[in-house]
Amino acid sequence: MGREQAIAHGKPRAGLTVWFTGLSGAGKTTICRYVQMELAARDMAVEVLDGDVVRTHLCKDLGYSEADRKENIRRIAHVAKMLTHHGKIVLVAAISPYRSGRDEARSIIGNFIEVYVNASLAVCEQRDPKGLYHKARIGMIHGFTGIDDPYEAPLSPDVECFTGDETPQESAAKVFASVMAFLSR
Ligand code: ADX
Repeated sequence: MGREQAIAHGKPRAGLTVWFTGLSGAGKTTICRYVQMELAARDMAVEVLDGDVVRTHLCKDLGYSEADRKENIRRIAHVAKMLTHHGKIVLVAAISPYRSGRDEARSIIGNFIEVYVNASLAVCEQRDPKGLYHKARIGMIHGFTGIDDPYEAPLSPDVECFTGDETPQESAAKVFASVMAFLSR
């Protein structure tokens, strides 16, 4: 049953979480913004949970140890679940470096698309929008993802964006198409 039919039949309208994972500087937030604009332009209820922002309030107490990163992802997943179950399209942008954490998020949320924002470490380091790779290289930051902390790439993401080669609009179009396909199942 399609989304419109489901609504017409009085079934609860389920939303969807689109989970963007990738290295810092890979382009998660940028693609997220484009997808957000596309969805909002179609009057779809969309919420964004961005790791950098969530860490200023809900996860303010957390650092970057493995346990803290997993707790960060667990909290984001539970908020995303509530929003998704109330019919929102939730866009999550978080490094979420551990496969197990992302798998847990998928099982908590249910309606879930994993988007791997794939850019090589070399590309991300060259962009270095916040200067953090430089700080990690000179030892001012320890445990930085991709430098001296792990990133486990998805093995079979639902969508893969190659931001070293694609424009943000091209990447966003792939994600948008996947969202529309999911919602019309
Ligand atoms: S996650 O690993 O727990 O998913 P999250 O996406 O919330 O990370 O936050 C990542 C952001 O925190 C980065 O984009 C960067 O701005 C900042 N940051 C600060 N320290 C680190 C670190 N050690 N590793 C990765 N990102 C860090």
